[in-house]
Amino acid sequence: MILPIRLFGDPSLREPTHRVAHMNERLETLIADMIDTMHNANGIGLAAPQVGRSERVFVVDIRPLLESMPDREIAGVPHQPMVFINPAITVESEEEEEYEEGCLSIPDILEDVVRPSMVRIEYLDGSFTPRQLEVGDLLARVIQHEYDHLEGVLFLDRISAFRRQMLKRKLRDIARGETAAEYPTEVNIAA
Ligand code: NI
Repeated sequence: MILPIRLFGDPSLREPTHRVAHMNERLETLIADMIDTMHNANGIGLAAPQVGRSERVFVVDIRPLLESMPDREIAGVPHQPMVFINPAITVESEEEEEYEEGCLSIPDILEDVVRPSMVRIEYLDGSFTPRQLEVGDLLARVIQHEYDHLEGVLFLDRISAFRRQMLKRKLRDIARGETAAEYPTEVNIAA
């Protein structure tokens, strides 16, 4: 089922998430719906708070990016889509790189964001099997962006105050529901 994606201004994007205790039907449904919702929006990642849920879960599918990736990067990419339950980033490289990011919850805004170029992440996959992954390049970028969502952090928090100021009007329009997206969206303003 395709779920509406919560937009910038919606409190669910800033609320804390909770670890998942075990796999059950409700979690299975959430994961399947998140993958459908991500694919429908042509996204490459989606985190539970973006559909108004507080589980520590995100999904990733970087296949749309693979065409533009050099062979050496594709070689190490795990089977897509990927499911991350209760993830923890345990190692971040000191080396950082800048890359342009967007977010399904912040339509029509792309900004350069600096992040560690490699991370190690520990998580449970969609079968609730413990996994550990060391990644770089675009997959590391997407994973860090989605992980941030579980911490209530948006990529806008990682750009300069000057850039944020420049985006003020666009962000206000998004929060008011005045920015059209090509997928179902929803914005709930905190009372
Ligand atoms: Ni995002």
